[in-house]
Amino acid sequence: MKQTVLMLALCVTALLSVWLVTESQKKGGVVDAIEARRSIRAYKDTPVEREKLQFIAECGVKAPSAMNKQEWELRIVDSKEWIDECTATYLKAVEGTEKAKYMLTPTFKNVFRNATAVIFVAAPDGLFSGVNVGMLGQNMMLAATEVGLGTCCLGSVQMLFAEPAMEKYITSLGFSEGYKLSYALAVGYPDEEPEAKPRDMSKIKFVE
Ligand SMILES: Cc1cc2nc3c(=O)[nH]c(=O)nc-3n(C[C@H](O)[C@H](O)[C@H](O)COP(=O)(O)O)c2cc1C
Repeated sequence: MKQTVLMLALCVTALLSVWLVTESQKKGGVVDAIEARRSIRAYKDTPVEREKLQFIAECGVKAPSAMNKQEWELRIVDSKEWIDECTATYLKAVEGTEKAKYMLTPTFKNVFRNATAVIFVAAPDGLFSGVNVGMLGQNMMLAATEVGLGTCCLGSVQMLFAEPAMEKYITSLGFSEGYKLSYALAVGYPDEEPEAKPRDMSKIKFVE
């Protein structure tokens, strides 16, 4: 009798755990955004509303940072002229090289993976710098997904702005002394629906 009760209790506990996990996944919000997010590299020409860009940036700044120092700066660019001029200058600087070939895909619109808006993120060098801006970035990407926008994290802007001809554009972002560009976040209304890229869950291990 005791054994039956114990077995029953174990079964109920197991079922409850499965139900809890499933329910928490159904609630929407952050888990839905994690599942739905993709790196988007094709965008509609529709400009992104400034309220949405502000919302995304604020969600970023709500991320945790080491000792809450918030050692990051964000610059939002939604000017088509700025983006197009920047693109033309870069393409001229790298004309005929492999760098140009890498950029010029058949659907090419601009050097920020064709986005209509770009959020540049800079931070000073530091032990937790990468972790801080990473947290900021993921918050922004999930917030953007939540409001129907696509994003793509662009580490390549570090190379882009390393071209001497691009100096005036990085200067125009007006980052504080000691802050270095870390990445840019391409933002816009998605014009593609890519499949999820595979993930390797074997990287996760419980330690007994
Ligand atoms: C730090 C970092 C830098 C990245 N740089 C670029 C980039 O320069 N250009 C690009 O197209 N994608 C870039 N990506 C996007 C990755 O290629 C993408 O996240 C990865 O292939 C997984 O695809 P998913 O984001 O759709 O899940 C970058 C992502 C991260 C996290």
